[in-house]
Amino acid sequence: LNQSHNNNNNVASNPRVQPKQPFFIGVAGGTASGKTTVCNMIISQLRDQRVVLVNQDSFYHSLNAEKLKRVHEYNFDHPEAFDTEHMLSCMEQIKRGQAVTIPNYDFKTHQSIEPACKVNPSDIIILEGILVLHDPRVRDLMNMKIFVDTDSDVRLSRRIQRDTVERGRNIENVLDQYARFVKPSFEEFILPSKKYADIIIPRGGDNDVAIDLMYNIFIQSLASMNSIRGMHTLIRDAKTTKH
Ligand code: ADP
Ligand code: C5P
Repeated sequence: LNQSHNNNNNVASNPRVQPKQPFFIGVAGGTASGKTTVCNMIISQLRDQRVVLVNQDSFYHSLNAEKLKRVHEYNFDHPEAFDTEHMLSCMEQIKRGQAVTIPNYDFKTHQSIEPACKVNPSDIIILEGILVLHDPRVRDLMNMKIFVDTDSDVRLSRRIQRDTVERGRNIENVLDQYARFVKPSFEEFILPSKKYADIIIPRGGDNDVAIDLMYNIFIQSLASMNSIRGMHTLIRDAKTTKH
């Protein structure tokens, strides 16, 4: 992380050094499809690169007292549940190679809590969440778009397990929320965003072959991005010399 600060200082003091633009990957998919698991499996293989994982959940709107009283009527799976403008501006900054502060969301209180999380410049940025492929402006920032495709019954059983253990819910609430909001919004907003994906990963974290393929694709894409940048630098330097 200190290394990235040094790089930025070099860029500021020497305008001829181009800042390296990070490689930006979006990972979407239904609730409990294994998005986080897939991202962590890929990250554990990327040893020589600086990687940051940003979760769309961080950008949930905090609920006020009025909405908290009727939390069981709130649709957390609707695009408007997220502060997409804030997410977009944070992702634009990270893509420009700047450090940003990402809110810290608490699923138990349905609010952003302190401390927020500082994200330093990185080589690879992964933005993960149910609706990261929904907004065209966010999609346009991405170099690669992935959709994790896991059966709904598998997802529901994992969600029951996770939400009762980690997110302070009871089974009745989870099932009620799933039937009223999670499943209808999946069908209305999340599933249609699959068509924007470059790569679809069936069975999430169980799919070792897909994880290995993803790793190889990232490495190749990063290498070609860097060599294209290197070529631009050469062309620009040649022009400078001619003048
Ligand atoms: P998402 O980020 O899509 O919500 P997660 O990766 O957090 O999904 O997985 C949701 C839950 O399912 C977690 O509790 C996780 O431990 C579990 N899980 C994910 N993938 C698998 C798998 N392949 N086998 C068993 N459990 C899994
Ligand atoms: O990790 P995952 O992708 O499952 O997180 C998204 C899910 O979190 C959504 O399906 C939404 O229903 C749920 N959620 C919730 N309570 C909140 C915020 C999100 O149950 N306060």
